Amino acid sequence: MDSIISAQNISFSYQGEDNQPNMVLHDLSIEIKKGEFVAVLGHNGSGKSTLAKHFNSILLPMSGVVYVVGLNTADESHLYDIRQNVGMVFQNPDNQIVATIVEEDVAFALENMGVPPAEIRQRVDEALKSVGMYEHRLHAPHQLSGGQKQRVAIAGIIAMRPQCIVLDEPTAMLDPKGRREVMKTIRRLNHDYGITVVLITHYMDEAAQCDRVVVVDSGAILLDDIPSRVFSHVEQLKSVGLDVPQATELIYELRKNGYDLPDDIITEEGCIEALAKLLEGAHVNY
Ligand SMILES: Nc1ncnc2c1ncn2[C@@H]1O[C@H](COP(=O)(O)OP(=O)(O)OP(=O)(O)O)[C@@H](O)[C@H]1O
Ligand SMILES: [Mg+2]
Repeated sequence: MDSIISAQNISFSYQGEDNQPNMVLHDLSIEIKKGEFVAVLGHNGSGKSTLAKHFNSILLPMSGVVYVVGLNTADESHLYDIRQNVGMVFQNPDNQIVATIVEEDVAFALENMGVPPAEIRQRVDEALKSVGMYEHRLHAPHQLSGGQKQRVAIAGIIAMRPQCIVLDEPTAMLDPKGRREVMKTIRRLNHDYGITVVLITHYMDEAAQCDRVVVVDSGAILLDDIPSRVFSHVEQLKSVGLDVPQATELIYELRKNGYDLPDDIITEEGCIEALAKLLEGAHVNY
C-alpha cells in the first residue's frame, strides 16, 4: 500500500460568530503517496491549516473520509497509530519545545509513549543527527537560533519514527539563514530517510524545491502538478493572490514582451541558462 494519506470528498466548516457555519473545505480530495515531497500553497484563509489538521485526526471531516496509512481518521481506536505515523510541525518552535535541555525535549514524547530507556537514547541520538543538531544535544533550547529550535522540534517528531511529517509554515518565523537550514533538513529527511513530507508554505522558492505543488483556493484544489507546470499558470496564480518564484516572474515578463523563452523556469539556474541561450542566439557578447 503506497498511499500515506487519502482524503476523499471531504467538507468541513467552523461555527461562525453568528452561529452560521463557515464552510472552509468543499468536497476536497487529495492523495499523498509514500515518499512524496508535496508543497501546499494558498492565500491566507484558503483552508491549508484546516486541511493539514485532517491529516492526523486533529480535525475530522463533516462529510467524506480521510484514511491515514489505510486507517479511517474518524475511528478513535486508530488515533495513536495515526498520530505516530503522521507527525505535525507548526510555525512557532517556542510553542513546541517543552523541556529545558535539547535531548530531553526530543525524548519527551517517547517517554510518554513508554518506550524503553535504551531505545529512547538510540532514537533521540538518531533524530538529532538527522536534523544536524546532535552537537547541541546538551544545550538549553532558549540558547538556540529560531532555525535550530525548529530543527529540534522536527527531531522530536522524527524520534517517533513517523512515515510522514506535515509542516505548517515551519519557516514563517525564521530569518533567511534559519529558513535555509530548515529547508535543507526537510529535504534531507525526504531524500535520505524516505520520510513523506507535506509542506505548507507561503514561500514560492520553497515550493519550487518540492516534487509536487498543490494550490488550494477557497477550500478546493485549484492546481496539483510538478512545480514547473504549476508555476507556468502565472495569471491564474496571481488571480488567487499568489506569487510565482522570482525567476518565473522575470521570464514571464520577458515572454510577454515577445522574447522566445520557455515557460517552465522556476529556479535561478534555469533562468540564467535560458537567458544565456537567448543572448547566444542573438549573438550578444556577455
Ligand atoms: N478555530 C477556528 N474557528 C473558526 N474559524 C476558523 C478557525 N480556524 C480557522 N478558521 C477560519 O477558517 C478559514 C480557513 O482557515 P485556515 O487556518 O485553514 O487557513 P490557512 O490557509 O491556513 O490560512 P493562513 O495562510 O493564514 O495560515 C479562515 O476563514 C479562518 O478564519
Ligand atoms: Mg494556516
